[in-house]
Amino acid sequence: MQQELFDQLRTHQQQIAKISLQDMFNADSERAKKLSLETDGLIFDFSKNKLTEGTLDLLLNAAKSQGIQAKIQAMFNAEKINNTEDRAVLHTALRSEKTSLLLDGHNVMDDIHAVKIQMAEFCRKIHTGEHLGYTGKKITTIVNIGIGGSDLGPVLICQALKPYRQAGINIHFISSVDGYMFNDIITEIDPETTLFVVASKTFTTQETMTNAHSSRNWFLAQTNNNTAAIAKHFIALSTNAKAVAEFGIAAENMFEFWDFVGGRYSSWSAIGLSIALYIGWDNFAEFLAGANAMDKHFNETTDLRQNLPVILGLIGYWYVDFFDYRSLVISPYNTRLTRFPAYIQQLEMESNGKSVKTNGDSVNYATCPIVWGDSGINGQHAYYQLLHQGTQVVPMDIIIAASDKFSNQEHNDILWSNALAQAEAFMTGKTYATAEAELLAQGMDAVKASEIAKHKVFAGNRPSNMLVLPEISPRYLGMLIALYEHKVFVQGVMWEINSFDQWGVELGKQLAKKVLADIEGGAISNHDSSTTTLIQHYISTRK
Ligand code: F6P
Repeated sequence: MQQELFDQLRTHQQQIAKISLQDMFNADSERAKKLSLETDGLIFDFSKNKLTEGTLDLLLNAAKSQGIQAKIQAMFNAEKINNTEDRAVLHTALRSEKTSLLLDGHNVMDDIHAVKIQMAEFCRKIHTGEHLGYTGKKITTIVNIGIGGSDLGPVLICQALKPYRQAGINIHFISSVDGYMFNDIITEIDPETTLFVVASKTFTTQETMTNAHSSRNWFLAQTNNNTAAIAKHFIALSTNAKAVAEFGIAAENMFEFWDFVGGRYSSWSAIGLSIALYIGWDNFAEFLAGANAMDKHFNETTDLRQNLPVILGLIGYWYVDFFDYRSLVISPYNTRLTRFPAYIQQLEMESNGKSVKTNGDSVNYATCPIVWGDSGINGQHAYYQLLHQGTQVVPMDIIIAASDKFSNQEHNDILWSNALAQAEAFMTGKTYATAEAELLAQGMDAVKASEIAKHKVFAGNRPSNMLVLPEISPRYLGMLIALYEHKVFVQGVMWEINSFDQWGVELGKQLAKKVLADIEGGAISNHDSSTTTLIQHYISTRK
């Protein structure tokens, strides 16, 4: 970033930091209206943030100087912006209604449409009973075997859209390799009615392949070694046709995607087949359409001040690099979005948790914050204490649905009142004088009230974003996820990093192989004394 723009933002931050959020609201009765955006019914109120129109001007100048518009175009136009892997980044094409998009002279939309037809057709066959299990029974249970991007999206989306599920279809997820998930699930399922969906972009991920092999062995044991039945009960979602074939899944039972789809951006691809099987193809298509609406908003809203992902991304950038707030809490209030924080954790931290720029230089500023969270309503009774009175300020994204036809009004009113009250409390806080007056009004004696009031002070001035979905439907969930995908893109542009590789996951995988060889072979290779001692301890106790 140009030093001059960075310095302007620094100087501006020093002025903004002196004004409380409450004073900003007191100074402008129209603040909430001015600092809110809406697209297609999704509302983004960012007025409870430490910024003014002047801040936005400076941030938008900075974004423009980073060439943000050209970079957005480059992504949508299939340029190979993932430079370390020499790949285009085309999750947006998966939900586009375009008929042509050339990558290396090849129209990728033809491939995308062909796989969508294959997926829709497979869903139809499962749901109508045209594809039956090996004993002629209908498939009623889907077991998605995958991890990371091949698990987190499907888990989130299936949980969020449970009310839309196909009648008679259940879904389970196996991600961890410790055996518990696998062992628990096989006690609940029937091999005659179960479809195992092995979801892995690479088809080499150790955890997934171990669970897939164990599932196949279990299935064969249950079916009197009926290898022919595998074709009816195992399918693969992957980019790696060779490894799928080696595993023993026939080409017609493989649903392909491509290296231009990142794992954490893959729910829109064949990786979404478990979702489509669970909620039905039409609902899955609506989910894609919602994301497509957000893509269009992002790509076509050239007045960046009106562009939701741009503003959401710049606010996060403003806090990390100018306020030094290194943590972000995601607080979905609807229970059906409880897995949203885990999903966003991978999306943001695996994309932007980096310290080397696209050009190979080290950064000399902070990048991705630590992203965490859980159901907001549960968080209120757990970690919100720290958020209100702890020593660090943690910006928050509150996400809530305006209406929930699958819930009931009384519960929803309480949910909303809590979400709004929390955001207000974070912002306004409570002074010592108010706390003391409240205690005196309760009849506490003056000496005790003056002591206890110290503990009841809330500094306030803690920022939050509010995202309001009209409802948790396939369409709005698609929009919400795409909003965050593009937010991540915007921040990657600001930090000058490649948001689409993930080399930081490699070293642990390499060392795990070496440690496993030591455990299995019993001869311990070269490690530090702590690792060696712990391997010895494990070998001596595992039997
Ligand atoms: O180890 C990290 C990672 O590569 C993620 O990026 C990915 O989502 C996950 O593992 C699963 O990978 P795969 O889909 O190739 O099994």
